[in-house]
Parts: sequence; structure tokens; C-alpha cells
Amino acid sequence: MSSFFRRIVARKPIESVEREINETEYKRPLTALDLTAIGIGGIIGAGIFVLTGRAAKKNAGPGIILSFVFSGIVCALACLCYAELASTLPVSGSAYSFTYASLGELLAWIVGWDLMLEYLVGAATVAVGWGVYLDIFFAGIAGKDALFDPRYSSAPFVWIENTANVTDGFYMNKVPCGVGSDELCQAYFNIPAFLIIIILTLLLVLGIREAAWVNNTMVAIKLIVCLVFIFAGIKYIKNENYTPFVPPNEGKGKYGLSGVFDGAVTVFFAYIGFDAVTTTAQEAANPQRDLPIGIIGSLAVCTVLYIAVSAVLVGMVHYPDIDASAPVGRALIAVGLRPLSVVISFGIICGLTSVLLVLMIGQPRIFYSMAYDGLLPPVFSKMHPKTGTPYVATLTSGFLCAIMAALLPVDILGNLTSVGTLSAFFLVSVSTLVLRITEPDLPRKFQIPGGFWFGGIFLPFLSAFCAAGLFSQATVPSIARVFIWMAIGLVIYFAFGFWNSKVGRAVANGGAPAESKKAAHA
Ligand code: ALA
Repeated sequence: MSSFFRRIVARKPIESVEREINETEYKRPLTALDLTAIGIGGIIGAGIFVLTGRAAKKNAGPGIILSFVFSGIVCALACLCYAELASTLPVSGSAYSFTYASLGELLAWIVGWDLMLEYLVGAATVAVGWGVYLDIFFAGIAGKDALFDPRYSSAPFVWIENTANVTDGFYMNKVPCGVGSDELCQAYFNIPAFLIIIILTLLLVLGIREAAWVNNTMVAIKLIVCLVFIFAGIKYIKNENYTPFVPPNEGKGKYGLSGVFDGAVTVFFAYIGFDAVTTTAQEAANPQRDLPIGIIGSLAVCTVLYIAVSAVLVGMVHYPDIDASAPVGRALIAVGLRPLSVVISFGIICGLTSVLLVLMIGQPRIFYSMAYDGLLPPVFSKMHPKTGTPYVATLTSGFLCAIMAALLPVDILGNLTSVGTLSAFFLVSVSTLVLRITEPDLPRKFQIPGGFWFGGIFLPFLSAFCAAGLFSQATVPSIARVFIWMAIGLVIYFAFGFWNSKVGRAVANGGAPAESKKAAHA
């Protein structure tokens, strides 16, 4: 095998991963409850509060309940793989680190690069939704429809696709020239989305304990909001709203489950975030026991809530009348509960804030792990001596995310997030399967139940298959954008990571195990 090939397929030795865990400079304050709250914090957000409306109205109708069940199954399978790998290799790089130890450096780099789509681009997507809800909330208090000037609360570009007389592509975004204006002007910059990312970035530099405390509070508020919506709305359910249960799918006109599956692809975004728990592995007090609790616990709670919220929503409002941008708040207004809708909007803002926080906790920790391995410049693995946070990585990722949130349209950001996350789920599932075969004796505090063939081989295989299946349902431009993103990543890898990787250098020097961090810093 040529040296080049040996380097790109080199796996990070398990001993190096163990050394990394033992030599960590992170503080370890997070409990099982914190980890579960981080999972819930990352999951419940724009997906349930915004996308459910669009998917029910356009594709699935009341069948959106089944869309949540199908998407939930795909995520539950991936969740089991994440739980097994996190209890085996509790390092902060999440899917990137798991892939490095099982499938080798090049695929690990691709996953790490892809995770930027999940965390950075995901946070930018949610920040745009956050700005919309902030406007709805303040406008609701003032008894108006909107307060923010659209020119300073919208992205300057839009993506237009599948429209007669217009070629697909980016166009300048024309919005009303002020609140209530009929004239159209160029949008400049999304200031609310930019500012919330900058504020949370600064909070994250202060310390993970402080961020976890803020997150726990926000999570409690958003759980209450979901429960209040369920119990307040249940009285207004009309049985006739559930018929037809699966209507024709918009744009395709087909009956059958086509709309339900399209809905499942859209609401997949709602489940993203449980895997962020694994990025805090090195800050967990008892990671091998508590990470699986956090990952599985948070996904289980959210799946039940999602199915209940969507069932109440489509029972309260007949699906063609559901509001596509603020379905939950407008459903309450439609049944005469306007004051409650303002309170719920506040809860939703808290909910979206916690999603932002969790996604922004994840990204710098992945940068940290990649820099620690030599695939990114070492400055990204710098820890703040007082706060114990990777502050250079946090500030850099926060700034990049804020710029994307301010300049890019939300649908581009959302699609990139889902497709990027599905690629990570695919590779994590394959990594679980490969590690079961190549490292059967590795101590696993949590194992996918069902023995070697069912739990170790069949379920991870099914998980990879389902992730690939959902990926294939994405639109062609979304898939093309992910491949362009990966191509940019490969250029960076071959310009920097390939030459500086600790594992790669060790392989080039005759296959010695990767040097320890203490040795490397000596
Ligand atoms: N699951 C997160 C949300 O729905 C990303 O906002």
C-alpha cells in the first residue's frame, strides 16, 4: 500500500483516544440531568414550532403524526449507535472522533467537516427563526403585526427554485422598505440573528457550567410550553380535522404515504440535536454512564412530545388552514386564545435560544478535537486557563455562524443542516458496525441490545440504510451543495490536515502510535 493511501486510511489508535480522555484540560461539571437537558435543549426548536406547520400544510396533512413517527425511528436507530460509541469513546469530537477510530482519517475529516453543517449552519438557521419569533412576540405585546424593519431583519439574498420564468439561483432579496410599507427595497443584514449568536458566543466563552445553567432554565420553560399547548389545545380538537388523514401531496398530487415521507424529511430537522450531547463528553462527570442516559433520554422525551404536539395541532386546525411560519401560536389565536399565544411565543423564544446554545457548544468542541489531532491549526485547541473552555474555537465558530445567519436565506441553511446531519448519522452507524467487528473486546458501558448479530450488526446496518434513504429524498440542489461543501473540505484537508495530522505523521515515520498531547507539547 502506498504511503499516501496508508495515511488517509490510518485509524486513530484506541490508546490515543483513551490518552486524550485522561489528559483532558476540560473541567467536568456536567451531570446526567445536565446532559439530558443539553439533548432536549438541542432538539426542541424551529423544527416543531415552525416546520411542522409547513410539512402538514404542504405534504402530510394530519399524517404529519406518522411523519414524526418515521423520522423518530430513523433518529432512534442513530441514537443507539451514538450512545454505544459515546460510552466506548467519550471524547468531545462526537461523530468525527468515532469515525477516526473506526474508518480512518479521510472519512473522519469528511464527517468533521460535515458536522459544521449540522452545528454551525444549524445554529444559523435557528437564529433566523429566533429573530422572526422575537418580532412576533414584541409585536404581539404592542398589538401589531410586526415591529422590526424588514431591511435590517432579513438576509440580503434569497434562493429561488422551480419557478416559471426564473432560472434557479440566488437573487437579491427585496423586502418592504420599513414596517407596513408597500414599496420594495433591498434587504441588508439580519441584525437580530447576528446579535443573538454573538451574545451566546460570549456566554459560552464564560464557561460551560454557566451555559448549562442557562440551558436548563430554557429547557424547563420550553417543556412547559409544549405541555401547556397540548393541554390547552386538546379541548379544541375536532375529529373531522383528522379526515382525510393522508391527503394528496402538494406538487406531486399522490395519495399513499408519499406526503408522509416528504413530511418526515422536513421534520427530521426537528430531531437534530440529541447527538450534541456527545460533544460534551470530556466535560461530563461520569461520561460512560451518563452520555447514553442523556442521548437516549432526551430523544425519548422529545419524540413523545412531538407526536402529541403535532396530533393536537392538526386536530385543532384543519391542515390547509395551518399557518406555515408560526403554526403553534396561530393555532391558539384561531381558537380564541390570543393572550396564551403571546406567552407561548415567549416560551418558543426560550426554546430556540437553548437550541442555539447547544449547537454552539458542539461546534467549537469538534474544532478542538480536530485541532488536537493536527487536522486544524493548533490554535483551535487552546483552552482558556480560567474558564476551561476552548475559547479560540468558540469565538471563531461564533463569528462564522453570526455572519451566515445575517447573510443567508433560511431554507438554504435548513436544508444544508439536515443533509449534512444525515451524512454524519450514516457514518456513525457504519462506525458502530465496524468497531463491533474490529474491536469486539473494547469495554462498552452501553451496548445496543440484541447481541452481536442483531444489536451489533443488523441495527447499525438498518440505521445506515435509513439515513441514506432519507438523504436520497433531499432535493438535488441540497445534495449538490453538500458535495460542493465536501469538495472545499477536501482541498483544505490536502492543503493542511494531511501534512500536519499526528496520526498521519506517525504512519509516515513507520507506524508508531500517535504521540500524547503532553509529549507533543513538551
Ligand atoms: N432540532 C432543532 C430545531 O428543531 C435543530 O430547532
